[in-house]
Amino acid sequence: LHIPSLIEKKRDGKSLTELEITKLVKGFTSGEIPRYQMSAFAMAVYFQGMNSDETTALTRAMLESGKSLDFPGKGKRMAVDKHSTGGIGDKVSLVLAPLLACDTNLIVPMISGRGLGITGGTLDKLESIPGFNVNLSREHALRQIEAIGVVMMGQTVDIAPADKKLYELRDVTATVASEPLIVASIMSKKLAESLDKLVLDVKFGSGAFMKTEPQARSLGEAMQSVGKLMGVETHVKYNPMDQPLGQTVGNALEVREAIAVLKGEGHTDLVDITLDLAATLSSKPRQKLRQWLCEGKAYEKFLEIVDYQGGESGQLERLAEVHKASVQRELRAERSGVVTSVDAQRAGQVTLELGCGRQQAEDRIDFSAGLSGIIKIGDTVQAGDTLLTIHAPDDTSADTACRQMSTAIRIE
Ligand code: URA
Repeated sequence: LHIPSLIEKKRDGKSLTELEITKLVKGFTSGEIPRYQMSAFAMAVYFQGMNSDETTALTRAMLESGKSLDFPGKGKRMAVDKHSTGGIGDKVSLVLAPLLACDTNLIVPMISGRGLGITGGTLDKLESIPGFNVNLSREHALRQIEAIGVVMMGQTVDIAPADKKLYELRDVTATVASEPLIVASIMSKKLAESLDKLVLDVKFGSGAFMKTEPQARSLGEAMQSVGKLMGVETHVKYNPMDQPLGQTVGNALEVREAIAVLKGEGHTDLVDITLDLAATLSSKPRQKLRQWLCEGKAYEKFLEIVDYQGGESGQLERLAEVHKASVQRELRAERSGVVTSVDAQRAGQVTLELGCGRQQAEDRIDFSAGLSGIIKIGDTVQAGDTLLTIHAPDDTSADTACRQMSTAIRIE
């Protein structure tokens, strides 16, 4: 295989064969094809795109670069999972995984990611629980699924290693925002879970990667097509991300909010989207799923996950003290009226700067930082009412966050 010719072919807008794509991914994974050639290839794909056969071949090659989670005794229970394209305050996975696992006909092998840009990541949120280990081996994952039907973990070294290598390159070569590369990256990891059924929560709006609904639909349809071609029943839901989901943004704060939902409380926007996604995957009626939240059954399952993964479940009720920010500052309404906008992108940027995410790969996360009690669009407020509380490491960052959030909320 002559790599420069293959890059040239894609650069000039021609389609590659399945064999060419397979050999390229194999060579890149083994180290035979250097990073500079793969970077040039990624840029060619960025500009020229890929048709659906090429995207499927790329997904398959990345999936086959590693191993899949093959569950013993699979066939008796359906393996299901959800993937979200990322949002602000999106803690749905923390509720959804244990809720679905209450259904003994299902198994939930959830492989999640870390924060990316301004959007938070499930793994970072889980790590705010003292002791919680997301870096499990395949063997541990399979044992845990056998025992309690659910695992919440990160990508292991043998799951889609080609994606891990390529993602690192894309991150530093301005080639993340390429639809076929995003599709292959996400779907190769999800398909490695050996799923029967997958639901994709594709976000659009100011706080999402896809700013418009047509962009989101194009990505959703491309992922659905690959999922179906690979034999997985794939559903897509499109959800707006113009205001933060629920009422908190920030790792430990979001775990606390998720716990409230797991006990049958929480804001309706978060509860409704969780039930919607869960009902797509479960054969149980929505009412039953809601009952499992209200009865505390889903919370009990969450405690089991925490215990199995080394977390200190006794600390869950004390997370507010375990991760208490040095400064808590209330942002108050300057006028009375109805809230017409709470800019999700700004909330994401502010929380990133408060320490909830990473600006560089090696940055440490501040689990205590974030926003809580966030007012929702449609709420009526009086001048002087609290719009949200800022949790910050010091007064200076609290002042900055306060200034930035005050212009992110519109009251009319
Ligand atoms: N998440 C992924 O895992 N991969 C992408 O390319 C984008 C988001």
